[in-house]
Amino acid sequence: MARNLIDIVDFSVEEINELIAVAEDIIENPVKYQDACAHKQLATLFFEPSTRTRLSFESAMLSLGGSVLGFSSASSSSTAKGETVGDTVRTVGCYADIIAMRHPKEGAPIAAAQVCDIPIINAGDGGHCHPTQTLTDLLTIHREKGRLDNFTVGFCGDLKFGRTVHSLVNALSRYEGINFVFISPVELKLPRYVKEEALKKKGISYVQTTDLESVMPDLDILYMTRVQRERFFNEEDYLRLKDSYILNPEKLVNAKPDLSILHPLPRVNEITVDVDKDPRAAYWRQVACGKYIRMALILKLLGIEV
Ligand code: CP
Repeated sequence: MARNLIDIVDFSVEEINELIAVAEDIIENPVKYQDACAHKQLATLFFEPSTRTRLSFESAMLSLGGSVLGFSSASSSSTAKGETVGDTVRTVGCYADIIAMRHPKEGAPIAAAQVCDIPIINAGDGGHCHPTQTLTDLLTIHREKGRLDNFTVGFCGDLKFGRTVHSLVNALSRYEGINFVFISPVELKLPRYVKEEALKKKGISYVQTTDLESVMPDLDILYMTRVQRERFFNEEDYLRLKDSYILNPEKLVNAKPDLSILHPLPRVNEITVDVDKDPRAAYWRQVACGKYIRMALILKLLGIEV
């Protein structure tokens, strides 16, 4: 049976820490890894738009000496003719050694893994989860803070549909001493099932608020997110909620000097561009981390040790 990454909880904390260590080593010693995946092929099957996830996966495989194939939209594959996800993935399993797939339907990567005997990586499924973004976030936090425990993290924006938030809450709930602060409009609160599974069952308390500025001085990490137009059923609701939080330099006046600001990106309007030059803005460094952690992940799932 191939090892897959469908949900971040598929990996133990020890395995996540090992991936972070390998990614750090890749950053320090890239030449050591440049032929590690020679003659291996990664397929990127993206049924939903992406810039960072697809291209970082492709860049990761190329930097490991492997090659890539795939498609960047459902409309350019036989999905447009009515082919099922299962049949598409089964087909690609005849050509590639490992698959990274993104799909708008929650659970599609699980269905894919059931019909395919090469490793499947969930590159985001609907509003459910996005485990490789979480690995990216954890590597970024580790590089920014030097640890993955004992800090206060604020999640701000669309916590209902934000799959990156769901996965990161799950992951951080397994580390010691994390204080969770959830900042969102009432309509976009973190789903109950995430709170139950990741926090309440483990006895982890959390704060929920609509007011970012009141909690800003407490935060060590601020994880901003986009209000996701594509997940709304009603355009009017999107328009009403889309600018609920706009982070600008004035709102950071009372923040800690060593705050780390993360965002999975893309951003729309929720962080003004003049925040980019603040040394606390870690989101462009976060983008770079995405490639290295995906290199480590590909090696792990292909069982390649360097
Ligand atoms: N963070 C993220 O998933 O970005 P893309 O949608 O560009 O892949």
